[in-house]
Amino acid sequence: DKDLGADLANVLIPEDRLQDKIRELAAQIDADYEGRDLLLVGVLKGAVMVMADLARALHLPVSMDWMAVSSYGSGTKSSGVVRILKDLDADITGRHVLIVEDIIDSGLTLSWLVSNLQSRNPASLEICTLLRKPEAVKTEIDVRYVGFDIPNEFVVGYGLDYAEKYRNLPFVGTLAPHVYGGGA
Ligand code: PRP
Ligand code: MN
Ligand code: MG
Repeated sequence: DKDLGADLANVLIPEDRLQDKIRELAAQIDADYEGRDLLLVGVLKGAVMVMADLARALHLPVSMDWMAVSSYGSGTKSSGVVRILKDLDADITGRHVLIVEDIIDSGLTLSWLVSNLQSRNPASLEICTLLRKPEAVKTEIDVRYVGFDIPNEFVVGYGLDYAEKYRNLPFVGTLAPHVYGGGA
């Protein structure tokens, strides 16, 4: 096991529950896209783990592409204005596209991404996210596949970082407040 040290407060979703859920989502996606040519679009870097496990759990033949985006705006507050750091390699016109995300928090990243990709005229555009926070439920985004609705806590692991660390944990955990300068 990886050494949690004193940084992790607790394990929110253990590895076996994550993997069970991924298989469940994959079964739904297999059924929904049967006979169609599916393009998975992973959002770097958080979605790397979900993408890798989900893609391997699918029986459908899929293609994979990646986008890297960054929120403009100062400090910790997301402005909803997003900059493309890496665009898709290929044109998605007429393609069945499924965006793969690790988490929807405020929903700002995804609302921007959905309208950006929609403007490229895909045949269909849906979203699969492993985690969703309460704030995201209030946004207009229609999310087809959700792994877990989680409480509004600072989570890391399985792709999710704090200052680029903890992404390689095989589970999702909550970070101890002292790590990010929170209260006791
Ligand atoms: C995180 C996460 C989502 C986004 C969700 O990415 O992976 O992509 O924030 O936040 P929102 O719903 O409030 O927009 P981040 O920008 O930290 O980049 P990363 O994936 O490289 O960690
Ligand atoms: Mn991300
Ligand atoms: Mg991040």
